[in-house]
Amino acid sequence: MISITALSKTFAGPNGSAIAALGPLELTIADGEFVCIVGPSGCGKSTLLRLIAGLEAPTSGSAAVTPAPAVTPSLVFQGDSTFPWMTVNENVGYGLQVRGEPDRQRDATVARMLTLVGLTPFAEAYPYQLSGGMKQRVAIARALANDADTLLMDEPFGALDEQNRILLQNELLRIWEGETGARKTVLFVTHSIDEALVLGDRVLVMGAAPGTIKAEIKVPFARPREVYALKRDPAFGALGAEIWETLKSEVRR
Ligand SMILES: Nc1ncnc2c1ncn2[C@@H]1O[C@H](COP(=O)(O)OP(=O)(O)O)[C@@H](O)[C@H]1O
Ligand SMILES: [Mg+2]
Repeated sequence: MISITALSKTFAGPNGSAIAALGPLELTIADGEFVCIVGPSGCGKSTLLRLIAGLEAPTSGSAAVTPAPAVTPSLVFQGDSTFPWMTVNENVGYGLQVRGEPDRQRDATVARMLTLVGLTPFAEAYPYQLSGGMKQRVAIARALANDADTLLMDEPFGALDEQNRILLQNELLRIWEGETGARKTVLFVTHSIDEALVLGDRVLVMGAAPGTIKAEIKVPFARPREVYALKRDPAFGALGAEIWETLKSEVRR
């Protein structure tokens, strides 16, 4: 599980000023839970994920994955996180290569992941030959290939057009819901309330910086979910409106 206790982060700003970016924040995420975070721009969402991933050190408090995982949590960054000089195959296998996994094993895992995200015909292509949606698929395949129990996703579909976003949301749901036994723990940051409701078991609304958790909404929709159909459910609209009521005052602040 992910245990976050009294976590805060302050950055050094210009001329010796301090930027209070996050917290103090308390949060517990159970193993196998899919939690979505929405919050105004600049409230510390990316900082929170980077702290959990261990890419930043907290100013106070702690963010820990317990028990300590064999594979560190995979972070899918905002925007394009493919390496332009590597083929799709090499991009997806990168984490495994860094870990020193034998070639045969790595190739088998990469092939499986490419099938999962529908990119097998593009295994030897370079990112410049791919659309935005395909590059996001590469980033997701890379994260899944690492096989960490925890996936941290920072607005991974934010730059996509709506059709591609719906396709990838459905794909992510299919992969996650399809996992038998131990589902991955996912912490997914998005600026879209709809996306949070479509994907998550729970939606956390963060307040204006320094971000803390203002509200927590359990998402009641049954799985497996189908994005387009779910959005037409009146209960979906009602819950979205409720979240927007909380969020809008934070966006104004
Ligand atoms: N490395 C950094 N140095 C200084 N300030 C930073 C750094 N990273 C983030 N910040 C500041 O921290 C605040 C939160 O940023 P961020 O976590 O990126 O917000 P969000 O992802 O919610 O938009 C912002 O004010 C941002 O400018
Ligand atoms: Mg961000």
